[in-house]
Amino acid sequence: MSLKGKHILLGICGGIAAYKIPMLIRLLKKQEACVRVVVTEAATRFVTELTLSTLSQEPVCKNIFPDSFSTEDDWTRHISMGEWADAYVIAPATANTIAKLAAGICDNMLSASFITLRPNKPKLIFPAMDGEMFASASVQRNLSWLSQNGCVIINPESGDLASGQCGTGRMPEPETIVEMIAGAVGGKSRNSKLYGKSVVVTAGPTREKIDDVRFISNYSSGKMGFALASAAAARGAWVTLITGPASLPTPDGVNRLDVESAEEMNHEVKARYATCDIFIGAAAIADYRPGKPVEGKIKKSNETMELSLVKNPDILAGFSEQKKPHQLAVGFSLETAGNLQNAREKLEQKKLDLIAYNTFDGKTSGFEVDTNILTLIDKNLALRELPLLSKRAAAERTLDIIEELISSDK
Ligand code: C5P
Repeated sequence: MSLKGKHILLGICGGIAAYKIPMLIRLLKKQEACVRVVVTEAATRFVTELTLSTLSQEPVCKNIFPDSFSTEDDWTRHISMGEWADAYVIAPATANTIAKLAAGICDNMLSASFITLRPNKPKLIFPAMDGEMFASASVQRNLSWLSQNGCVIINPESGDLASGQCGTGRMPEPETIVEMIAGAVGGKSRNSKLYGKSVVVTAGPTREKIDDVRFISNYSSGKMGFALASAAAARGAWVTLITGPASLPTPDGVNRLDVESAEEMNHEVKARYATCDIFIGAAAIADYRPGKPVEGKIKKSNETMELSLVKNPDILAGFSEQKKPHQLAVGFSLETAGNLQNAREKLEQKKLDLIAYNTFDGKTSGFEVDTNILTLIDKNLALRELPLLSKRAAAERTLDIIEELISSDK
C-alpha cells in the first residue's frame, strides 16, 4: 500500500475526535504522502497548530486573509489548495461545518477550499459528534445532500462517546482512515481488477405513480445491490449506487443517488453511459407504469377500476445496446424456481456479460432477506451454482466472476 507523493488536504473541525488527527498525519507521512492541514478556529481548541505543522512539515492554514502578505498568491490560498489536493479529507467533521459544506458557505479557509476542489477529486467526510446530534434531522439532511453530490460520507462507528454516553458518533481510528484515503486516491496497490474502475449499480424497487398519493412498487429491499456496491468500493472501485426507495445506510466509500421511478433511474444511468466501466443492474424495476398519473387523489366510485399501464424502459438492455467493448453489463434474473432457462434467454436478449439467476422463497433467497442463492451464468454460458450465502458473500463471489471476465477480455 502506498500513498507516496499524493497530496492530501486535511480539514480539521472543532470536535473532540480531533485528538486523533496528529496520529493520522504521522501515518500519512509514513506513507510518504504530502499533507497540508486546514483548521477551523474551534479545531485549534482541541489540537494545536504547532503540533499539526510540526507533524505535517507544512504551515497550517486557518484564515482566508493571512496576517502578512509574504507571497503574491497568499490571499488566493483557498483556490490554490483546492487545485493542489488529490483528495480532501474532513475529519472530524462537525455538524456546523457539515451544514456549511452542504449550503456552500465559504466563511473560513476550510469551507472555502472545499468548494475549490476539482470536481473529480475524492472528498471524504468523517462526521464525528454526539449520537443525538448525529441522528438529528438537520445533520442527516445535510449529509444526505453531500452524499448525493459527490462526497463520500464515512458513517461514524458505535461505541463510547466523549459525552459519557454510548452511541453512534465515533470517528474511526487513524489506521482505518488511512486505509480509506488510500482506497479513494488510488495510492493502494490492490490486486483487484476492479481497482480504479467506475462501477454503476442500480438497486431497490422503483415507485410508479398512480396519482399523487399512490404508486405501484414491489418488495425489493435493495440489500443485494447495496452489498454489491459496498463490496466493489472495498475493492477500490469508484461506485455510484442509483437506488429506488430503500431504507438502508449508504455503504462506505459509495456515491449514492436516490431516485423514485424507472424513468428517473434511467435518466441517471444514461448520464453515466460513457464513464461507466461496469454496470450492474440489481434493481427490481417495475416493468410497467401508469400511462398518465392522475393529479390529486383518484376518488372511489365504481366496483371495479382499470389502470392503463405503459412499458418502462429496460435500463440494463439500454446500457448493453450502446456499450463499448471495454464495458461490462451484469444483470439479475429473479424467477420462480426452476426457470433457469429464462435467465439464459435474458442473458442473450439483453446482451449481458453475466447474469445472476435467483429464486424467491421468502426465507433464504429473494427480496428483503439477508441471504441469497445465486446461479451465475456468463456470456460463454459457463454456469456456477453458489451455495446459500449472505448477500455480502454472494456479492463478493459475483465480483470475483466479474474480475475473471475482465481478465479474459484482455
Ligand atoms: O427482464 P427482467 O426484468 O426479468 O430482467 C432483470 C434484469 O434487468 C435486472 O438486472 C434488472 O435490474 C434489469 N431491468 C432493467 N430495466 C427494466 C427491467 C429490468 O434494467 N425495466
